[in-house]
Amino acid sequence: MTHIWPIGGGKGGSGKSFLVGNLGVWLAEQGKRTLMVDVDLGAANLHTIIGIPYPKKSISDFINKKVKTLEETVIETQTANLFLISGAKNSLDVANLPYAQKLKVLRAIKKLSYDFILLDIGAGTSFNIIDFFMISDLGVFVTTPEPTSIENIYRLIRAVYFRKVRKMIPQRDFKKLVETALTRYEDSSIDYLSALVLLMKEQYPQKGKALERSVQNMNFHLVLNQLRKKDNPRLGMLMCKIVNKYLGIKVEFLGNISYDDRVHDAVCEKDSFIYRYPYTQASLDIRNFCNNILSISNLKSNVRNDALTEQRL
Ligand SMILES: Nc1ncnc2c1ncn2[C@@H]1O[C@H](COP(=O)(O)OP(=O)(O)OP(=O)(O)O)[C@@H](O)[C@H]1O
Ligand SMILES: [Mg+2]
Repeated sequence: MTHIWPIGGGKGGSGKSFLVGNLGVWLAEQGKRTLMVDVDLGAANLHTIIGIPYPKKSISDFINKKVKTLEETVIETQTANLFLISGAKNSLDVANLPYAQKLKVLRAIKKLSYDFILLDIGAGTSFNIIDFFMISDLGVFVTTPEPTSIENIYRLIRAVYFRKVRKMIPQRDFKKLVETALTRYEDSSIDYLSALVLLMKEQYPQKGKALERSVQNMNFHLVLNQLRKKDNPRLGMLMCKIVNKYLGIKVEFLGNISYDDRVHDAVCEKDSFIYRYPYTQASLDIRNFCNNILSISNLKSNVRNDALTEQRL
C-alpha cells in the first residue's frame, strides 16, 4: 500500500521542505521506498535541501510531454531507497498549471508505487495547492508559532474544507446555495463556511452525509515548527481545538519541533539535519514526528488489511 502524505502550510518559510527532506531520509533509512515530489511548482527547491544541485529531470518534462510517464522523471538520491521528482527547471508558467494538466499530474502520482510518497506543497491557498492536498486523506500542516503563520494555516484548512463542499455540488446549485447562505445568515455571527455546510445538509441531505463521512475520514495533522524557548508549547494543541470547534474538522497535533540555529548550517551544507546533529532537541523532535507518521501509516495499512480479510471471509 502506498501512503501519500501531502505536507503543506499556508505560509512560506514554515519549514515544509526541510521537514519533507528529513522525513524522506528517515523513512528511507527504515527501509521504506520513499519518493519525494516537489509540487511547489513556482518555487521548487527540495532538490537543493537534499543535496542535488542540478537535477537532470523534473516534473515539467511530464507536464510538457517530453516523457510519457511520471515515473520517467524520478531521480535517485545519495540515500538508498530515497527518490525524488524534482520541481527544478520548471518552465515559468508551470506555477499556474491549467486544470487538465493538474489532473494529469494528480492521477499519475496516485499510480506510482512506493511505500511512501511525500508531497512538498507550496504556500498559499490557491486551487492548485488545495487539490494537491486533497490527493490523499492524510496530510500534515506545518506552521510556526507566529500569528501570521497560524492565521494562514487556519485559512488553508478552511479552504480545503470549502473545496470539498464545492466539489460535491454542481456549479449552478452551488451559486444558489451561496446566495441563500448570504441572505439567510446575513446578520448572524455564523461563519460563511459553516452557513454553507448547514444549508447543504438541509437542502441536500445525502450529500451532507457524504460530506460528513468524507470529513471524518480526513486524517489531518499539525506540526508546530521552529518553537523557541519563550513560545507557548501548547499553541499547536490549542490550534487543533479551535479548528475542531469552528470547522468541525479533526486535526491531530503531532508535536512541536524546536528552533535550532544549526538547521541553517545543515541546509547550507545540503546535509540532512537529523543525521548531522542527531543529539539536538530539534533532531529528537523531528524523529518523534517521523515515528508518528510511520505509526499512523501502519495503523492505516492494518485497518485496510482487516477490511480486505473481512471482505474475503
Ligand atoms: N526547526 C527549525 N529551526 C531553525 N530553522 C528552521 C527550522 N525549520 C526550518 N528552518 C529554516 O526556515 C527556513 C524555511 O524553511 P523551508 O525552506 O523548509 O520552508 P518552506 O515552508 O518550504 O518555505 P517555502 O514555502 O518558501 O518553500 C529555512 O531557512 C530553514 O533553514
Ligand atoms: Mg519549500
